[in-house]
Amino acid sequence: MEWNSALYDKKHDFVAEYGKGLLEFVPKNDGQAILDLGCGTGILTVQLADLCHKVVGVDSSQSMIEKAKEQFSNIEFIVCNALALPFENEFDVVFSNAVFHWISDHDTLLKNIHKVLKPQALLVCEFGAKGNIAAIESAFTEACNDTGYEYEPKFHFPMAEDFGRLLKNNGFVIDKIYDYDRPTVLKDGKQGLVNWMKQFYASELEEMPENVQATVCKRVEELTRGTLWNGEEWVADYRRLRVIAHI
Ligand code: BEZ
Repeated sequence: MEWNSALYDKKHDFVAEYGKGLLEFVPKNDGQAILDLGCGTGILTVQLADLCHKVVGVDSSQSMIEKAKEQFSNIEFIVCNALALPFENEFDVVFSNAVFHWISDHDTLLKNIHKVLKPQALLVCEFGAKGNIAAIESAFTEACNDTGYEYEPKFHFPMAEDFGRLLKNNGFVIDKIYDYDRPTVLKDGKQGLVNWMKQFYASELEEMPENVQATVCKRVEELTRGTLWNGEEWVADYRRLRVIAHI
């Protein structure tokens, strides 16, 4: 999927906003190097820069990296795949916010992270936990089926126990691992859920004629109104898995 970096920064800046809480787990050390894995448009990378000697932001999306470079020309940003990181034994911290649920192979991902970390280095990450956006996924699946399209769920939201096991199997020592509900207000009032779908289900919606796209979005709103609409805004049913671990 190619990302719409403009829509992302304008309507979904809460992703980086919530990520600020995760920054508290990154120690400040003027000698350290940090890798921001899945840096998007670089909003958190620039804050990580204040905590270290060197920060590198990587993302698989060309358009996100272009925007990041445009906004923060003094920071190094690289387009690369999280499953083929071009570093070895280079970083004291790998930081990652709202990225791992886009990656199906968490085992290879953790092997890559382990490889780029120095001995005793830290992994600080947060992403969707089991049950994340369950109401949206279920409504989108039903709305697609109703209109003759099939939606194959594409996100990977693990249980804390399973991800913890994978961390240990890959040589990490877990300092903290927990999941929690984080209801997330979507910007733009009535338009919030449609904006969200246009960003995150872009590749599925693009397969449909415009009138079908509108029908699907409307049906998702109908199906989720009882649980996600609070009378003024859409509140997405986010659940997070937070991990602090070292090697
Ligand atoms: C998330 O951050 O949990 C998320 C965002 C977009 C799509 C799926 C999950």
